[in-house]
Amino acid sequence: METVVSGIRPTGKVHLGNYFGAVKNFLQMQHEHHCFFFIADYHSLTTHPHPADLHASVKQVLSEYLACGLDPNVCTLYLQSDLPETAELYMFLNMNAYMGELERVSSFKDKVRTQPDNVNAGLLTYPVLMAADIILHHATKVPVGKDQEQHLEMARTFAGRFNRIYETEYFQEPHAFNYGKELVKVPGLGGKGKMSKSENENLAIFLADEDDAIHKKVMRAVTDTGSAEPNQPLSEPIQNLFDLMALVSREDTLNHFTDAHANATIRYGDLKKQLAEDMVTFVSPIRQKLQAIHKDNELLAKIAKQGAEKAHDSAAKTIREVREIIGFRKF
Ligand code: ADP
Ligand code: TRP
Repeated sequence: METVVSGIRPTGKVHLGNYFGAVKNFLQMQHEHHCFFFIADYHSLTTHPHPADLHASVKQVLSEYLACGLDPNVCTLYLQSDLPETAELYMFLNMNAYMGELERVSSFKDKVRTQPDNVNAGLLTYPVLMAADIILHHATKVPVGKDQEQHLEMARTFAGRFNRIYETEYFQEPHAFNYGKELVKVPGLGGKGKMSKSENENLAIFLADEDDAIHKKVMRAVTDTGSAEPNQPLSEPIQNLFDLMALVSREDTLNHFTDAHANATIRYGDLKKQLAEDMVTFVSPIRQKLQAIHKDNELLAKIAKQGAEKAHDSAAKTIREVREIIGFRKF
């Protein structure tokens, strides 16, 4: 049994990219490992959310975790901000994190390009906070999507550097994990790029989406102009729709449309209609559970409290030991 940590930023709602990249793995891992799953609400402060929006998003993501099937009696489910030890470890790690290496992280470079007016220190040190989340519980496995691979590499760097500086083997190196062979990248509906809540909302399917919203978004998904020639390679937008179909549809459905494409008899309208139906079949039971859980403030409060207590036991022990290693000792 290994220790597992993963989190999702509460910047809106959970989409199918988050589900298939991360949460689906959590559901199985919780029964096989010692798991900590959290809502990364400190991380979300880099975008300066309004307090009411932050609170609403945290509540939404906690409800979504539960609706997907995370069991707070099996795993530890908590809010990052309930664990101030995270911030303390982040501060210690920051002392040995260098400008040059942080500036080279591609998610940071993307933000510099896309939001030049808000390049704050929290964004620069985002991978340090993420490393603190992970090594605070001595996790070795971190279920995340492909976009987080480089952050995991940084977490290994910071854990290894702490060990070298203090001549210890205290922290282990964490690795990104997925049950499949490779980390997952779920495409969006815009013809290119990953599904994401940060970009156009219409290109992502959320677990909270109503059936007709799902139909509308999928029917508007980008395709190509089609070809009358058989056995043509798949264009990127069509490959993306097939990739989505592979996640939510039956294998024979996918095979049917793959053959239809190869024979050049495919009608993209039919493909999208089927994909929309299969997404609705997948999403609607989760959405219904979500609606019931989201109303139950008492349940959510109880679960958050129980999670904070369990996570605190592990975090407090680490911080006690780290302080000793660093040299903050009693007289
Ligand atoms: P977003 O990218 O929408 O802002 P987060 O950054 O909060 O979402 O991601 C939370 C988790 O979901 C991470 O493990 C991330 O790797 C995963 N994830 C997000 N988008 C995708 C995607 N399109 N495909 C696969 N995994 C994804
Ligand atoms: N950075 C992750 C994301 O945006 C969320 C996250 C924060 C995380 N801390 C983590 C994921 C620790 C795994 C482990 O997707």
